[in-house]
Amino acid sequence: MSFTASAATANDASHFANGKTKYRQLCQACHGDKGLGDGPTAASLPSKPANIPNKLGEFFTTKNSLVDDILEGDTEEGMPSSQGVITRQDAIDILDYVEMIQR
Ligand code: HEC
Repeated sequence: MSFTASAATANDASHFANGKTKYRQLCQACHGDKGLGDGPTAASLPSKPANIPNKLGEFFTTKNSLVDDILEGDTEEGMPSSQGVITRQDAIDILDYVEMIQR
């Protein structure tokens, strides 16, 4: 089986669009426009929301481990659980989206 370049691009575009939509709906208020942890509700939380691009760059952190952290949340610190709200693929799309908009 072979995939054409345009099919791959269309697939990437739909993941990007999904990540963008879900990020804006579910994450941006706390994590800010570019994921830096500076959203409008950040100041009212027990902990400062994570700087997502910094997290992605941490040596001992992988995208997969961040997906687990996102689904699990950390409700005591103000990070809601996304279990049952988004899928693993949605969380990957969100992280890819945040990574992409840093450039
Ligand atoms: C109500 C505010 C809020 C919302 C909404 C929110 N977060 Fe968070 N997030 C936080 C806070 C606060 C922390 C820091 C938690 C801590 O210090 O343990 C955090 C931490 C994180 C971390 C770091 C986890 C780690 O292990 O260090 C990631 C990644 C993250 N959030 C991604 C997301 C994504 C993706 C979404 C949307 C699906 C989202 N957050 C929605 C407040 C929020």
